[in-house]
Amino acid sequence: MNVVKVGLLGLGTVGGGTVNVLAKNSEDISRRTGYQVVVSKASARDLTRSRICDTDGIQLTTNPQEIVNDPEIQIVVELMGGEEPAKSLILEALKQGKHVITANKALIANHGNELFAEAAKNNVVLAYEAAIAGGIPIVKAMREGLTANGIEWLAGIINGTGNFILTEMRDKGSAFADVLQEAQDLGYAEADPEYDVEGIDAAHKLCILASLAFGMPLNFKKVYTEGISRITPLDVTYAEELGYRIKHLGVARKSEAGVEMRVHPTLISEKQLIANVDGVMNAVVVKGNAVGPTLYYGPGAGAEATASAVIADIVDICRQLDGANAVPALGFMDEQLQDIPLLPIEDITTAFYLRISVEDKPGVMAAITSVLAANGISIEAVLQKEAVPQGASTDVILLTDSVIEKSMIQAIKDIEALDSTNGSVIRIRVESLQ
Ligand code: HSE
Repeated sequence: MNVVKVGLLGLGTVGGGTVNVLAKNSEDISRRTGYQVVVSKASARDLTRSRICDTDGIQLTTNPQEIVNDPEIQIVVELMGGEEPAKSLILEALKQGKHVITANKALIANHGNELFAEAAKNNVVLAYEAAIAGGIPIVKAMREGLTANGIEWLAGIINGTGNFILTEMRDKGSAFADVLQEAQDLGYAEADPEYDVEGIDAAHKLCILASLAFGMPLNFKKVYTEGISRITPLDVTYAEELGYRIKHLGVARKSEAGVEMRVHPTLISEKQLIANVDGVMNAVVVKGNAVGPTLYYGPGAGAEATASAVIADIVDICRQLDGANAVPALGFMDEQLQDIPLLPIEDITTAFYLRISVEDKPGVMAAITSVLAANGISIEAVLQKEAVPQGASTDVILLTDSVIEKSMIQAIKDIEALDSTNGSVIRIRVESLQ
């Protein structure tokens, strides 16, 4: 049987998982590809560190350039993360005519346009299934399975660490910092956990999904991004009382006006399947204009789950080694990518959950509802907590109808200026996903 040699740049959680899964499933993988897939070399910063995989038979080096320069290696798998040296090594590998696989969502979101162009120029593949939603084959589903559809919108829980934190806060009342530490110990969190908690990691993934959905160049800077660090157990409880769960959601939608791309905490009715996606699990709903809504669910992080996606790309490349046609990087012919207007968050319409700290005195509710009415905002539900002791401050929780964000920004300013309200209004967007 023919051998295809693979070089790994990085031998941490995902690299170790890739070696393990290739070993565990080598027979099936050979049956599927017609090749024996061999990891011949791997680079790591510290060769003395203990590994989750057996490295017998793999030549280890601290110099990733050795892998890129090895003429026998046909597929380079970049699992180092970060911008540099990952970007330069990928460019160099592509220029040398090697196929490249990466799990580096930040790199694809920020530099994918340049990297895909270099891959096309050299007639090789740059594959990135592992960059989005861990083990879920969402790139394959969007580029191939849904290719008959115009995509209307997609919405996803696409950061396992953030979902794990929100779930533990809800189920166990755990403190934010403890849960984050647990996610780091399990290898879910990014090297800089701010990327998980502040929504940057989810924004990277959403940017790629939006380009796959609508056939447009990657445009990370246009993704509106809000993290989960301001969500308190109080908001989680109030949302539950209203029949909702708070999820950190990425949403991309195309309308006549343009494309919206946003990542933020979102109230979702507990009746929706996606509201019940818990722990490190990810899920993406994609609404196609022929098939309707489809849901993809699976582990969003972890060694072998992410390795599953890396190896699916290795298998795809093996199948193309014999000259079969490649699928375009973003699923549309490169020359067919379109510059569609990208909407700022102020021009996007959603419903809202508002938590307002108020004085316990007559006329407070009337003042708030007057402000909302003056800004054209209709109320869907109201929850007022009894002030304890009487006369103390309390919370008013409101669910509004859909409203354009700029009206809500003005209404919140007006509410915060009222004598009878305290501090900032907490606002979380609500999605019905209809
Ligand atoms: N930190 C990421 C997450 C890893 O938690 O989803 C997978 O991309």
